[in-house]
Amino acid sequence: MSSVQSLAGKVAIVTGGSKGIGRATAMRLAQDGAKVVVNYSGDVAAAEETVQKIGSDNAFAIKADVGNVEEITKLVDATIQKFGKIDIVVANAAVMALNELDKVTEQEFDRTFNLNVKGPLFLAQKAAAHMSSGGRIILFSTTLCAASTVTPNYLTYLTSKGAIEQMTRALSKDLARKGIMVNCVAPGPTATDLFMKGKSEQLLKMIAGFNPQGRIGQPDEVSGVVGFLASEQASWITGQVLRVNGGMA
Ligand SMILES: NC(=O)c1ccc[n+]([C@@H]2O[C@H](COP(=O)([O-])OP(=O)(O)OC[C@H]3O[C@@H](n4cnc5c(N)ncnc54)[C@H](OP(=O)(O)O)[C@@H]3O)[C@@H](O)[C@H]2O)c1
Repeated sequence: MSSVQSLAGKVAIVTGGSKGIGRATAMRLAQDGAKVVVNYSGDVAAAEETVQKIGSDNAFAIKADVGNVEEITKLVDATIQKFGKIDIVVANAAVMALNELDKVTEQEFDRTFNLNVKGPLFLAQKAAAHMSSGGRIILFSTTLCAASTVTPNYLTYLTSKGAIEQMTRALSKDLARKGIMVNCVAPGPTATDLFMKGKSEQLLKMIAGFNPQGRIGQPDEVSGVVGFLASEQASWITGQVLRVNGGMA
């Protein structure tokens, strides 16, 4: 447990909180004193493991596909039923299908935009109704939005994350009336399932070599930034995209 419980009394939802950056974020927010809802869509074992790591007094797992508005409503309702309010929303869950234009299907496009774009927007809408001044919404983009070179197969993923960066801007203006701060974290390559899947040792070395620090980031190097944005220290930050990438872009 952290010695400074800066989020004591707060309630946080972390979508995709069962693995990778989401798990690190759920653990960080709990360390800082928040009660955490760990959302997942399929792998109950990973979600339960995350809850166990935090301690079941301070966290619980909810299965919900956060690309689906009905399920998002269920997630928000279950959080209210369990903890009575929402202070922090981390819209972390995303899918990254890699295909060049010729191979992109309508199904892949819809899946990407449902989870990566529609989901965060409607989660913000449903959750904001239960949030008060001082609340935080933290969205997720990627450093690739600012990188000077991108491989063409990032087409749908990158397009969805571009939308998230603009959503951050527009939503921060909208929710200013409620005193809710909206920001976005844009990691560089980070050692999680999403990033490592299907990459050879050689490719991973090459990607690490492109980074000025000569390595790939770790999930807790991103979750620390989410913890900061969720804290009182970030009370004057809204509408910003924070790139967390070792100086890659
Ligand atoms: N890792 C990187 O290099 C990197 C770089 C830039 C940006 N990002 C961004 O950082 C965020 C987290 O990425 P990550 O690498 O930590 O991902 P990850 O390791 O693939 O984890 C994804 C999480 O989302 C959950 N999830 C997937 N589909 C879901 C759905 N429909 N509804 C609810 N939960 C769902 C997964 O749980 P289940 O398995 O149970 O579905 C899992 O907990 C994403 O927004 C990603 O775009 C990552």
